[in-house]
Amino acid sequence: MHAARPRIRHVRRDDGPAIAAFYAALSPESRRTRFFGTFREITDAAGRRFAGARERGGDGWVAVVGRGVIVGHLCLEPLGTERSGRTEEVAVAVADAWRGQGLGRRLLDAAIVSARRRGVVALEATMLTGNQPIHALLEHSGLPWSCRAVEPGSESIRLELRGAALQGAA
Ligand SMILES: CC(C)(COP(=O)(O)OP(=O)(O)OC[C@H]1O[C@@H](n2cnc3c(N)ncnc32)[C@H](O)[C@@H]1OP(=O)(O)O)[C@@H](O)C(=O)NCCC(=O)NCCS
Repeated sequence: MHAARPRIRHVRRDDGPAIAAFYAALSPESRRTRFFGTFREITDAAGRRFAGARERGGDGWVAVVGRGVIVGHLCLEPLGTERSGRTEEVAVAVADAWRGQGLGRRLLDAAIVSARRRGVVALEATMLTGNQPIHALLEHSGLPWSCRAVEPGSESIRLELRGAALQGAA
C-alpha cells in the first residue's frame, strides 16, 4: 500500500526525460505489452515526442508522486477523420507497483473528457492479443466498445465517445 495518492496532470513540454525514465523503469514484460517489443528503454526523442503530444493536436497525462516521479502515462494521438468525426489512438501504462489501484482508470477518464471536449468521436487502442488488463480497463469504461483483429497477434479496441455518459465523471 502506498502513502500518497498520485496526482494526474497534463504532460508538459519538459516532461521528456521523466517520461523516458518512467518507461525505462517498467518491467520488460510491461514494456513489451505497451510497445509490442523488447525495448530496454525508449529513446530521448520518443520521450520528447510524448511530452509534445498537445502541440500535435493530441493530448497526454502523467500520474505523478513525490517530487515529480512519473508512475503512469497516457497519450492520445490523432488518427484521422472519418465521416462521423475525428478519432484518436490511446495508449497507456502504469508502473508495475501501482497497478490495480485505479490509476489507469483515472488516466482514461481524463482522456475521455478531453477527447469529447475536442470533438473526438472515438478512441482506438491497439494491443497484443490476450492483454487482459487493457481489455478490462477499456471495457469497464462504461462506453460502447468493439474489438477487431489487426494482424496475427494483435487487436484493436474502439471506444465510442458519443452518447453514453462516462461512469464516475463529475
Ligand atoms: C493496462 C494498465 C494501464 C491498467 O492500469 P491499472 O492502473 O492497473 O488499472 P486500474 O487499476 O485503473 O483498473 C481498471 C479496471 O481494469 C481492471 N483490471 C486492471 N488490471 C486487471 C487485470 N490484470 N485483470 C483483470 N482486470 C484488471 C480493474 O479491475 C478495473 O476494473 P473496474 O474499474 O471495473 O474496477 C496496466 O495494466 C499496464 O500498464 N499494463 C502494461 C502496459 C500495457 O499493456 N498497455 C496497453 C497497451 S496500450
